[in-house]
Order: sequence, then C-alpha cells, then structure tokens
Amino acid sequence: MRLDKFLSQYTNYSRSQVQQLVKAHRVTINGEPVKKADHKLASDDQVMLDNQRIEAFSSRYIMLHKPLGYVCANSDGEHPVVLDLLDIPRKQDLQIAGRLDIDTTGLVLLTDDGQWNHRITAPKQECTKIYLVSTADPINEAAIQLFAHGVQLHGEKNLTLPAQLEILDSHTARLQIHEGKYHQVKRMFAAMGNRVVQLHREHIGSIQLDPMLAPGEYRALTAAEIQEATQ
Ligand code: URA
Repeated sequence: MRLDKFLSQYTNYSRSQVQQLVKAHRVTINGEPVKKADHKLASDDQVMLDNQRIEAFSSRYIMLHKPLGYVCANSDGEHPVVLDLLDIPRKQDLQIAGRLDIDTTGLVLLTDDGQWNHRITAPKQECTKIYLVSTADPINEAAIQLFAHGVQLHGEKNLTLPAQLEILDSHTARLQIHEGKYHQVKRMFAAMGNRVVQLHREHIGSIQLDPMLAPGEYRALTAAEIQEATQ
C-alpha cells in the first residue's frame, strides 16, 4: 500500500495533509525520514508519525442483538441508535449490513469492511434473511403459495422474489426472503390484508443470531462466520 493511503486510512489526516507531514519530515519508515508521500510500503515496514508508531487496524465484524426502540443509523435526532450499544473505539467507521426498523428486533451485522458489507447486502447476492413474524390476524394458508410465487408490493415494479413461509401457529410464522426491500416483511403481510405486530430477524445468510446474546448485547463474528456468510 502507498504511504499516503496508509496514513490517511489509519490516522485522521487526509492524503493531502499527509503530503504536508512528509514534507515537514514528520514521517519515518524504519527510522528513516521519508521523502515521498507515494512511497510503496512493504508489509513489515514500521511507520512512525511524530515518533509514534502507526499500525494498521484490522477490519471488525460484529453481530448485535438489536432491541426494540433503537434505530439502525449512525445518528438520529430523536431515538437511540444501535451504535450507542457498542463500547468499542471508532464506532463511526462501522456500517450496518442490512437495517432493521425501530420496532424490529434481532440480528444486525456491523462492519468496517465495505467489500464484505457489499457482498452481504448487494441485491444481486440474494442473501437469505430469516424472520420470525407475529401478526394481528390469523395467517391465511394462501400466503404460503402467494409468497412462494412473489407478491406485488405497492409502488414496486417487480414481484418480490420467491419467499418461503412456514406457519408455526395461527398468528406466527417463519419467513425466508432473499432480498431486502424497504419494510419488506411488513408490506408482504399487508398485501395479504394482515399486519405484522412483532418482527425478529434470526438469520442473515449462514449467520444465526447467537442465542447467548440478550437484546442489546453483541459479539465479534468468528472467522468461520465471516467467511461462510459470503459464500
Ligand atoms: N422487513 C420489515 O418490514 N422490517 C424490518 O425491519 C425488516 C424486514
């Protein structure tokens, strides 16, 4: 990686500010002052800025059990946001891989690895999401066929992708969808004349919400979860 890219990524300086730092002889590599901001770094080079070692931090991958009442955003004028639940540095660098509504609970993934986030959330990937749904009215068996065929949602050009509905009892079901349109689950049930009263996400791709996590708790993903999620 180039020195200017490295320093702008792992400090608060922009690339143009890094050029000024280099010009002012404030940056050394392996103890030697650097002359050019576009210097190509080797993986074992030790970069110092004002005699302080600058180290690359590795990407973070977190699963959170989102409680009710939290907004999936970096900030919100009115409500608490999911980032408020995390006690870690550089929270603002995290992206939310697949948002949930304020009144939905369950699995939320957060990462500062933009490519991984893209692989999880890009519509083309058709990443499976599994939700536990409770409804106001009894769930009509006809929903199984309709959701498997695809539903015409208000204001959408295309039918929803085929989704799998398993009715658990009169007012609860498990729904697998393979896309993430705005308020998709609520709108699918609304298209059946029903109303979702509780919604909880259990899975994103191969990642399952850890049953040990109480609402509001989080943990780092394991290496296997990070890898398998995007396969
Ligand atoms: N579908 C919804 O309607 N809401 C969510 O939070 C997630 C999926």
